[in-house]
Amino acid sequence: MTTTRGLEGVVAAQSSICSIVDGVLCYGGINIDELAEHATFEEVVYLLWHGALPKRDQLDALKKQLGENAAVAQEVLESIRHYPKGVHPMAALRTAVSSLALYDTEAQDMSPEANYRKSIRLMAQTPTLIAAYERMRKGLEPVAPRADFTIAQNFLYMLTGQEPTETAVKAFDVALILHADHEFNASTFSARVSVATLTDIYSGIVSAIGTLKGPLHGGANEAVAKMLNEIGGMANVESYIRTKLDNKEKIMGFGHRVYKDGDPRAKWLKDMSKALTAQIGHPELYEMSVKIDEMISGEKGLKPNVDFYSASVYISLGLETDLFTPIFAISRMSGWTAHIMEQYENNRLIRPRADYTGPVNQHYVPIDRR
Ligand code: ACO
Repeated sequence: MTTTRGLEGVVAAQSSICSIVDGVLCYGGINIDELAEHATFEEVVYLLWHGALPKRDQLDALKKQLGENAAVAQEVLESIRHYPKGVHPMAALRTAVSSLALYDTEAQDMSPEANYRKSIRLMAQTPTLIAAYERMRKGLEPVAPRADFTIAQNFLYMLTGQEPTETAVKAFDVALILHADHEFNASTFSARVSVATLTDIYSGIVSAIGTLKGPLHGGANEAVAKMLNEIGGMANVESYIRTKLDNKEKIMGFGHRVYKDGDPRAKWLKDMSKALTAQIGHPELYEMSVKIDEMISGEKGLKPNVDFYSASVYISLGLETDLFTPIFAISRMSGWTAHIMEQYENNRLIRPRADYTGPVNQHYVPIDRR
């Protein structure tokens, strides 16, 4: 039996949602560079769910559905209010999404139509859950979503109750586009493994959120922000990184299982980081990031991934550090739901084998003779 550690290079199934070929990332065959430059996140959601860009009326209909479904059941909001103080927002999100299922009368309806409607609700309500948790942990009342706002606008609005600036909305929208899908990444794969048992869509999404939370996956953007904070200023970058490298510690936000010559999403976030950190009057956040990038690329040959420059982008947008991974979840909800619907369409149980390495020919020994 041959084993492939971490399933590296294993092609587990066919998918028509997203491709990574020779380091080029495409959604539905469209290079993400074009999408980041020209598209809106809602167009990308449609593209991932339908395999083609929407016509104007299709986009308008989707935006209307997302807007109308953004409000969360009052019971769910009330339960969030009682979460223990200090729980990580990803843990809160995992639980909150799970409780959405309890109040969804279609939760167990496995028809494609019901799964599409649930995908709309999950996409629309995830930002509402995160913003509500963020406000309630600060002792504030949640701000109700606005049906006329886009996902990016609504999320930023619900955090503060103030209409966000056009610059902030644009930057956030591009970040959502860049994180929307990534074929069989760990969280998407865990969602597909779950629903391949024909469990419901909420169970698949809860698996995905739990998987995204880990620091080797979506949790890395928060870890990068912590690192920038610990470093504190340009003068400390060299010694901080040198110590990490000498101790053989991983530098979060670098390296990737698939991209060995660089992550195509990182350049967008790098440019955004430069512009936004300058705008808020803290260009050193970008300069520190570039210095770290130069050291790690130079010495380890590792390139920044999507999580590295997104940290300084989100700091510049005034977002709390522990919301960075939940923000990733808002975006990736589009990809997760697309993959779950694709898995249901052409399902086969995902059940690999293990190469057993434990003892053999053992016997049961009664407890007082062990
Ligand atoms: N810092 C220092 N060394 C690293 C890093 C890093 N960030 N990433 C990889 N390496 C080293 C490994 O230690 C290993 O060295 P070795 O061969 O001497 O043992 C070598 O590079 C190969 O790395 P692997 O861990 O085998 O690579 P793998 O494909 O298994 O892991 C991963 C990819 C998990 C992304 C890894 O690069 C990592 O841990 N990076 C930091 C966490 C991170 O940024 N995660 C976000 C990824 S993007 C996303 O999920 C959205």
